[in-house]
Amino acid sequence: MKKNILIILMALLPLAGMCADDLTPTPISIVPSPVRIVPGNGNFTISAGTVFSVENQEQAAIARNFIGLFTKSSGITPQLTMGKSEKSQLRFTTDSSFKSEAYLLEVTPEDIQVKASDTKGFFYALQTLRLLLPAAIEGNQPVKDMVWSIPAVTIQDEPRFPYRALMLDAARFFIPKENVMRIMDCMTMLKINTLHFHLTDDNGWRIEIKKYPRLTEVGAWRVNHMDVPFYFRRNPQPGEPTPIGGFYTQEDIKEMVAYAAERQIEVIPEIDMPAHSNAALAAYPEFTCPAVKGYIGVIPGLGGGNSGVIYCAGKDSVFTFLQDVLDEVMALFPSRYIHLGGDEAQKVYWKKCPLCQERMKKEHLANEEDLQGYFMKRMSEYVRGKGREVIGWDELTNSSFLPEGVVIQGWRGLGAAALKAAEKGHRFIMTPARIMYLIRYQGPQWFEPQTYFGNNTLKDIYDYEPVQADWKPEYESLLMGVQASMWTEFCNKPEDVDYLVFPRLAALAEVAWTQPGAKDWASFLRALDVYDERLTAKGIVYSRSMYNIQHTVTPEDGVLKVKLECIRPDVEIHYTVDGREPTAASPLYEKELTVEEERTLKCATFAQGRQMGKTLTLPIQWNLATAKPALGSNPSEKLLTNGIRGSLKYSDFEWCSWTKNDSVSFTVDLLKKEVLNTFTLGCITSSGMAIHKPVTVNVEISDDNCNFRKVGTLNFTSQEVFREGNFIEDLALEMGGVQARYVRVAAKGPGVCPEGHVRPGQEARILFDEMMIE
Ligand code: ACM
Ligand code: ZN
Repeated sequence: MKKNILIILMALLPLAGMCADDLTPTPISIVPSPVRIVPGNGNFTISAGTVFSVENQEQAAIARNFIGLFTKSSGITPQLTMGKSEKSQLRFTTDSSFKSEAYLLEVTPEDIQVKASDTKGFFYALQTLRLLLPAAIEGNQPVKDMVWSIPAVTIQDEPRFPYRALMLDAARFFIPKENVMRIMDCMTMLKINTLHFHLTDDNGWRIEIKKYPRLTEVGAWRVNHMDVPFYFRRNPQPGEPTPIGGFYTQEDIKEMVAYAAERQIEVIPEIDMPAHSNAALAAYPEFTCPAVKGYIGVIPGLGGGNSGVIYCAGKDSVFTFLQDVLDEVMALFPSRYIHLGGDEAQKVYWKKCPLCQERMKKEHLANEEDLQGYFMKRMSEYVRGKGREVIGWDELTNSSFLPEGVVIQGWRGLGAAALKAAEKGHRFIMTPARIMYLIRYQGPQWFEPQTYFGNNTLKDIYDYEPVQADWKPEYESLLMGVQASMWTEFCNKPEDVDYLVFPRLAALAEVAWTQPGAKDWASFLRALDVYDERLTAKGIVYSRSMYNIQHTVTPEDGVLKVKLECIRPDVEIHYTVDGREPTAASPLYEKELTVEEERTLKCATFAQGRQMGKTLTLPIQWNLATAKPALGSNPSEKLLTNGIRGSLKYSDFEWCSWTKNDSVSFTVDLLKKEVLNTFTLGCITSSGMAIHKPVTVNVEISDDNCNFRKVGTLNFTSQEVFREGNFIEDLALEMGGVQARYVRVAAKGPGVCPEGHVRPGQEARILFDEMMIE
């Protein structure tokens, strides 16, 4: 009930800190949402005369961190005293009845009381206070004439999960230290307590290791093939210049780790093994299997066959090397956990390698998966011997045995493999790719920069509930928490990382911190707006994709139904169909639109008369097949006659795909006999994703959907089919004025991608966007 009153109040009033008089409680919007908020009356104002009192040195460090932030943006430095002080206005009091990280914050016009049982609790109370202050607190220059007031409120709070993480992949894109630290500071405000730092991969080795200098002299640098997206990039040739990259010196790492510690963030380094190791092997090729012949370079893209080049499991020198590396890593990172990777290890060379095979025999290992199990176990035991615990990706469950105590990170699909580990009593973390991978599109794809796979919107992340109804009760107690994973294959500058991380990180924070029953999408968005103001004050350009419109156009009885959706319920959609730009005065979209002829629809979201998202321009084309039924069982065949052409993004929900690609067939019913002159089929090639055109397209016609006669065939050579690039082609055929009601198309798939392709040996797919008959 209280929550409902609060929601109504928040809807009626402006943002926190802007309330009119001292008698009206100010609405409080905090992300992640606290356990309990009781708004009070009036405000407390921080001034130069404000005194903070703390009980010990740990608390003093936390108070100093906050005072430092405050001084930078206000020019005011509140005083700090140790021990009980009658004169203090902001008091820390230890209350051992609180759980770790929990806190109570009581703000009245006279003073601020903070209670917690540990430094983390005090720290998070101050982060909440930070969100209650004006957003100018995040600025780098002192702001004049600002009243630094905090609304009176009582907040009681504690997290749902102890592990609340962001993974940053600094290997695919080297993220400068300053940007990593700025992201950490933004994590802090969201009470995210773990940075999983992916430091090594095929595409770059990013941490200085004194004993093996070539890891960064060679492994941190790759060829400049940036003219094309990651998944099209060709492998390097010997002698090619390698200007792209960078690495963190050990001093840089120390600086980042200290910065994190001040913010209660544990930085967990990941040294990926046995795969994703081309950068290390480019530096020290002696650590791969002798079966690997030829040049190993740092891969600028997917790598094709080269991604199968991994550490040899038969050579003891490999283990010595990795132990030496981990010695230096562990000396730099005081984290409880060390991440040993273990993902996506292809076993092509291990199968051919006499040393790997000999190891399998000697250790009585049934197969190469168990050889990886041996590899991970041996390295894990080394790390555990040093007093640390190990995390690994969910492929560790492919082996018949798991390293003792290993924590598994569930990532494939919805992370189900982690449950295999839970079944054996292992703790686990959820970062399912289909929801928590920030590399995926965060909004309607027509507006987004190129990346791959489907959508993980702000709302998809927000709605994620890791604990599933069909779980055994013990799984829940083994779940440590959740993580958003920022893979950087498509990032070319630090701003690209910011764009993909923010604001989705706030949704992750709420999943990780707030109890599911206390989540409320509309309240979250209000709190997100408060947080986003702070990102702006820090100079971060966050994504506004949450304001963009997703369209769905569906044929229905000879007309098209147009659905327009925005994930923010606090906006209106206005549209035009006469080619003019939409404004707040254009017709309001209230329900599905019906379109019966060629049109260009334009629409955008608006709030308080202001345009919030980008304008969606939707050209609806019309031909004999438009809005007519496709008769197959594949529901996405509706896309073939919906009048909308797909974009260069094959996953934009305008491309029809099939689960089996060797032969594909579909029929359109034109609803009456028509004169047919041309047939055109829209087809996308996206070679980086093994999407190619068919080898043949056969077109047949019929009057009764029973007896078909052939109209023509298109044939393509293997060279034509497997052309590289990302482009759309219209495959056209003359029909010569024949008459028919039904048109049937049969396409033969391209088969397996050949040697030399960026995805050799992978079954190629075919995707069509539109069937156009005139
Ligand atoms: C992963 O995405 N390879 C963990
Ligand atoms: Zn080997």
